This record gives sequence, structure tokens and C-alpha cells, in this order.
Amino acid sequence: MSTLSQKQLDKRISLRDSFNRRIDYLRISITDRCNLKCIYCMPKKRIQNFKGSEILTSEEIVRFVRIAHENGLRKVRITGGEPLMRKDIFSLIASIKQTGIRDLSLTSNGIMLSKHAGELKKAGLDRVNISLDTMVAEKYKAITNGGDINRVWESIEEVERVGLSPVKINVVPINGLNNEEIASFASLTFNKNYHIRFIEFMPVGCNEIWKKDRCISAKEVMHIIATLGTLERLKFRGQGPSRNFRIKGAQGVIGIISPLSDHFCNFCNRLRLTSDGKIRPCLFSGVEIDIKTPMRNGASDYEIERLFCHSVKIKPLRHLLSEDVTSSRSLMAMSQIGG
Ligand code: GTP
Ligand code: 5AD
Ligand code: SF4
Repeated sequence: MSTLSQKQLDKRISLRDSFNRRIDYLRISITDRCNLKCIYCMPKKRIQNFKGSEILTSEEIVRFVRIAHENGLRKVRITGGEPLMRKDIFSLIASIKQTGIRDLSLTSNGIMLSKHAGELKKAGLDRVNISLDTMVAEKYKAITNGGDINRVWESIEEVERVGLSPVKINVVPINGLNNEEIASFASLTFNKNYHIRFIEFMPVGCNEIWKKDRCISAKEVMHIIATLGTLERLKFRGQGPSRNFRIKGAQGVIGIISPLSDHFCNFCNRLRLTSDGKIRPCLFSGVEIDIKTPMRNGASDYEIERLFCHSVKIKPLRHLLSEDVTSSRSLMAMSQIGG
């Protein structure tokens, strides 16, 4: 009897939405708390954090991942707020990995990562993405509301050392803030095998500083990077929205993420789970499916599975930001959704 390869197995258990997109990636925000307060992510006025009892427990998260995995989920990203604010992060990572998730990653601001990188790797984490929008210490402090950039550099070195790779660095270019650093960030790839990813500034939630003229489009970023050398298009699209390039002769990769100027919804493969237990079929839609209440009211695995499948089925075709940038204003802040 021939045994099925992993690829054949995945094909058999794959969940498709109404537009025939295969949904196999879940971004889980495990906390809405953060030890920074980046200006493009959190609103100026204090937002009310969820109470401890409102947040999904580790057991609830793992149960959901197990059920989703049985229905074709292959890739999980842990986000926040800042995911390392959560005390049970190591056991949570280990339990998620044990469900059979193949690609388990985490997005962090890098402030606490150097201390925990080794233990995260041991727990089963595959890789991390780190947010860093400037290389100037004072500016970093201003953007993040007090963050120490040295800790981020230490984290980048440490995650590299323990093999949480490839190391991806997320940069959100904003006019009047860090636009003159685009070339310097891209130049990091000459000597280091980093993936430097430029993300278009998105108008999510009550983001007071978002203005069209502060956005730097993917095209403008490419134009600046092209001055550094010949850009080779890399075939892999990653498993995410990034279009990837290498400057000829460089070691690392440059990723371009263009949710506004060239949205990637046609290839979207993801759902989100908020820290208070709601499935969000799309980053830019307020539609949510509550899984916490049913779980706490004794729902069976079958009932949770139905909710998961329903969330996949109602996933919208695309966001409408290109037509109406205000359509996302009423959403929660990015720090609450997890990016
Ligand atoms: P990998 O490529 O797998 O490493 O991950 P990723 O790019 O999905 O993860 P990361 O958390 O680093 O996200 C990078 C940026 O892309 C963030 O600003 C996200 O908000 C944005 N992003 C990720 N997924 C989506 C999506 O489905 N829609 C939109 N519009 N933006 C997204
Ligand atoms: N626009 C684009 N990217 C954002 N992020 C947070 N807020 C925004 C925004 N308004 C990014 C962070 C982090 C990732 C998860 O989301 O830089 O790297
Ligand atoms: Fe900044 Fe990330 Fe915290 Fe948002 S969640 S304030 S991007 S560090």
C-alpha cells in the first residue's frame, strides 16, 4: 500500500473559501498589551485593555488550533500587542507546535526577545519577525514612546545565533519620519542574510497620524532601492504577502508588502484570532465570529469546527481601502488585531 506524501495529505484536508482560496494560515493575537506604544499602531488616547478573564487561555487557544489543524491549518503566527508580555508563552508555543503545525512564527518588537530567544527555539518556535522602523536611537525612542533600540539590535543578533531564521525585519516607511532611511535599511542585506520588509503604512483603527501624503508606496520604495544595485526578483512569494527581491551580490532579501497600492487579497490564505477569542476573516473588516463564548459554554469540538469552517466560508474577496481609506477607521487599533 503506498503511503501519501505530506503534500498529498495537505491537498486532501484543505479548506477553501467561497473564492476557492486555500485557507491554511492563522494569525493569533495572544495579548492586546504591549510594552511600547508605536505612533502608527496605537491611538494617542489610552485604549482600554481586555481584562484577564476576557483573554483566551492557553488551553482554549491550543484547542482551537488543534481543531483548525484537523481542517487543514498548517501555519500559525503569534502576534500581540507584544506576545512576549504573556507569561505562559513558552508552554503555549510548545503546545501549539505539538498539534502538528509546520510553520510556527512570532512577530515581536524585539525589546524582550534577546532574553527569551533560546527558550522560544527550544519550545518549538521556527522563526520570528521583528519590527524596527529606524536605526536612529533617539528617533526609535520617539516612534515607540520610550523604547531602547540597543535591545532590539541585541535581539536581532540573538535570534540569529539560536537559529530562529530567517530573521525578518518589518519597516513601515512614513514620510517625514523615516523616509530617508529606506536605502540604509535595504543596505543591511549586503552583509547580512536578513529579510528587510517594507510595509505600506495602513489606515487601521483610530490611527491619528495616518494621512495619504505620509504613505510611501511600494513603487517609491522600489525606486529608492533600485539606486543601490540591480534588483533580482526572487521566485518565492514566501507564504505571506511579501514580494521578494535581492540586490545583485547581496546576502539578504528585500520584501515589499503593498496592502494599499497593490493588494494581495487574491492570494490571501489567512484568518485572524483576536486575543478575546473572535475569528476575523479579514484584517480590514469588522466581521467577527465569537469562539470564546461557545467554548466556555461547553461547545463540542464539532461545534467549534463548524464555526471555523463558517469563518472561512464568509471570508470577503478583498478589502476596499483603495476605494475608501476611511472604511477601516472604525476598526480596533492595530495593536489589538495583531497586524
Ligand atoms: P511571513 O511572510 O510568513 O514571515 O509573515 P507575514 O508577512 O504574514 O507577517 P508579519 O507579522 O511580519 O506581517 C507583516 C505585515 O504584513 C504586517 O504589517 C501585517 O499587518 C501585514 N499583513 C499580514 N497579513 C496581512 C493581510 O492579510 N492583509 C493585509 N492587508 N496586511 C497583512
Ligand atoms: N501600517 C502598516 N504596518 C503596521 N504595523 C503596525 N501598524 C501598522 C500600520 N498602521 C506592523 C508593525 C509590525 C506588524 C505586525 O504590523 O510594524 O511589524
Ligand atoms: Fe509597536 Fe508592535 Fe506594540 Fe504595535 S504592537 S505598539 S507595532 S511594538
